[in-house]
Amino acid sequence: MEFTRSHQLSARLRSLIPGGAHTYAKGIDQYPEFAPHVLARGRGCHVWDIDGNEFIEYGMGLRAVTLGHAFPQVVEAVRKSLDLGTNFNRPAAMELECAETFLEIIEGADMVKFTKDGSTADTAALKLARAYTGRDMVALCAEHPFFSYDDWAMCTTTMDGGIPEVERSMTLRFNYNDIESLRRLFLEKPGRIAAVFLEAVRTEEPGDGFLQGVQALCREHGAVMVFDEVITGFRFHLGGAQQLYGVVPDLAIFGKALANGFSVSALCGKREIMRLGSREREQDNVFLLSTTHGAEIPALAAAIATMHVYRSEPVVEQLYRQGERLQRGMLEAVRRHGMSDYVTIAGRPCNLLFGTRGPDGQPSQAYRTLFLQELIRRGVLAPSFIVSYSHTDEDIDKTIDAIDGALSVYKRALDEGTDRYLVGSPSRHVFDRK
Ligand SMILES: Cc1ncc(COP(=O)(O)O)c(C=O)c1O
Repeated sequence: MEFTRSHQLSARLRSLIPGGAHTYAKGIDQYPEFAPHVLARGRGCHVWDIDGNEFIEYGMGLRAVTLGHAFPQVVEAVRKSLDLGTNFNRPAAMELECAETFLEIIEGADMVKFTKDGSTADTAALKLARAYTGRDMVALCAEHPFFSYDDWAMCTTTMDGGIPEVERSMTLRFNYNDIESLRRLFLEKPGRIAAVFLEAVRTEEPGDGFLQGVQALCREHGAVMVFDEVITGFRFHLGGAQQLYGVVPDLAIFGKALANGFSVSALCGKREIMRLGSREREQDNVFLLSTTHGAEIPALAAAIATMHVYRSEPVVEQLYRQGERLQRGMLEAVRRHGMSDYVTIAGRPCNLLFGTRGPDGQPSQAYRTLFLQELIRRGVLAPSFIVSYSHTDEDIDKTIDAIDGALSVYKRALDEGTDRYLVGSPSRHVFDRK
């Protein structure tokens, strides 16, 4: 396996684009040196790099491509939409169709507004909450690493350059599954907290009554409860975590899986709050997600087609089934190699994340990079083990074989160190929490 062109183009990318990619998670510092740094195309769950190497991919498109690359129904819908034109001076009929389809699936929401990114939709939720409550502060769940690239969220991380001090003073943090930590914030900052943001679930499941407790505290103290469903939506359950756990937030943000990789995100929720962006009454003065490209027709066509597939085929069931197959195979391989203390897997089967530890039992980027490298050598590109609807039994079984091979190198490296086995330097975190 050679990556000659990959390395050439990657150097050019980095000289022209800060970070070498349009998402830091795709950057060269996230992967081993021995890796496909530039991809040419994808189909199903397979991708080909520009040197012609083929890989089974996981976590495709940063979890956006839930159905599979170039998924036929989505491609066809987009192709047809291209003849309609892409953007007009008045709303397109497709905006209504997309909103109706979305709101039929996300039953707890009364209204929806589409935009391009999850980040901007999260920020819009905060703006609405501030306008609705007349307050300024926001409480974020500390264990949930990413809500938005905007200042109010990034100020809690080490990637906080260029953020004014005043933002930092507005953002508070509470802990997941620790209802007292949220109660304390409400008591310390009475009448100040506009919104509480969390993912209903990440890798740790919500404890008994936790989500209900967050909702009760928000109601008691007059704050807006916001679920970030950018990851959970259409993956953990068709109707998102809110339907999975039966707790409907005031506002929610969906993204990623909504349009199978096309750029559509959604802010949705209660009419009473959403209507502040409607301009119907004097007090409806929130400039809510108004952007030239917000209703780009091919992207909405992709969203409608994607939601249609979710409703007519057993997509979510298949994500769980294939994730379970992979989890089982991986855990067996890990046990066989006696590596249970070093290689772990966490999360629901539809959203599996692996952990890598060094000889001292501590999380290790060097060992993570080595594991990635050895999977790549065996034809698997897996920053996580997040499956898509296109992963077949054969893909999963080949991945389990690749894991088995990668573990034997990992095991030797536990005794001898990574230096002997790792090409280049360990990868880095995009950011750490402060
Ligand atoms: C939970 C969560 N919320 C929000 C976002 C931001 O979405 P986007 O990258 O579309 O701006 C992400 C992105 O990874 C995310 O994982």
